[in-house]
Amino acid sequence: MDTTTKANRKYSKQIPVYIYDNADAASTHVAKQIVDLIRKKSERGECPVLGLATGSTPLPVYRELIKLYRNNKISFQNVITFNLDEYYPIEPSTRQSCAAYMYDNLFNHIDIKEKNIHIPSGNLNRDEIAEYCRNYENKIVDHGGIDLQLLGIGRTGHIGFNEPGSVMNSNMRAVKLDKLTREDAADDFMGEENVPRQGITMGVSTILGADKIILMAWGKHKANIVAQLVEDNISKHVPATFLQEHSNAEVILDKSAACKLT
Ligand code: GLP
Repeated sequence: MDTTTKANRKYSKQIPVYIYDNADAASTHVAKQIVDLIRKKSERGECPVLGLATGSTPLPVYRELIKLYRNNKISFQNVITFNLDEYYPIEPSTRQSCAAYMYDNLFNHIDIKEKNIHIPSGNLNRDEIAEYCRNYENKIVDHGGIDLQLLGIGRTGHIGFNEPGSVMNSNMRAVKLDKLTREDAADDFMGEENVPRQGITMGVSTILGADKIILMAWGKHKANIVAQLVEDNISKHVPATFLQEHSNAEVILDKSAACKLT
């Protein structure tokens, strides 16, 4: 059965919200959208451009994509990827880096070409960051922009590492991580004191440049921030609310993450 038929669709002012029984059912639906995009663009001889996120949220989507690849349902040979963010400073070989995460959880298990993978570097010299970020954004433009951007949401309301205070026209840059974000990452880093204090992130404006955006959230601990994202006014205090301005963004939730929606 098509999982989309199991979704209960609700509307906020602008963002369609789809609620699934659980994260796996929702992720199957998201993976299907990715596969459809890859097929559609490939048939036209074009390269699909995906914006990818880290964190626990997209893991079931990546598992599903790997499964589909192993079952010969899809190839990633001509897929281009741009990751959203990275801790700073961090070496790509560090287990907790977004780079290591992407290889462990997706890239090592599919046929994507190394040259098509872009992940913000966490080990630049400070004086290289601004130019690096400009080049990263230019590369996105050179590839025709992001077709589909996957997002999770932090409990601060961040998308990527655009913490509260990030403005709508922000570009890719180095940012200070919020205390709550560092607390949430503490287990991964075996203690909050080991969590890097900064990140390098696509800006809100970079993210809003994608043709389509899918924000996913699972679990009760995301319910408050999801309700703000969907139902509150747009504000830099909850950067995810900027998605309300996008004409082709959707929010995909499990029942627990949706429990505070009115
Ligand atoms: C991290 C990432 C975000 C991610 C968020 C939520 O800090 N920078 O891109 O969406 O936190 O993480 P999780 O999916 O583990 O809840």
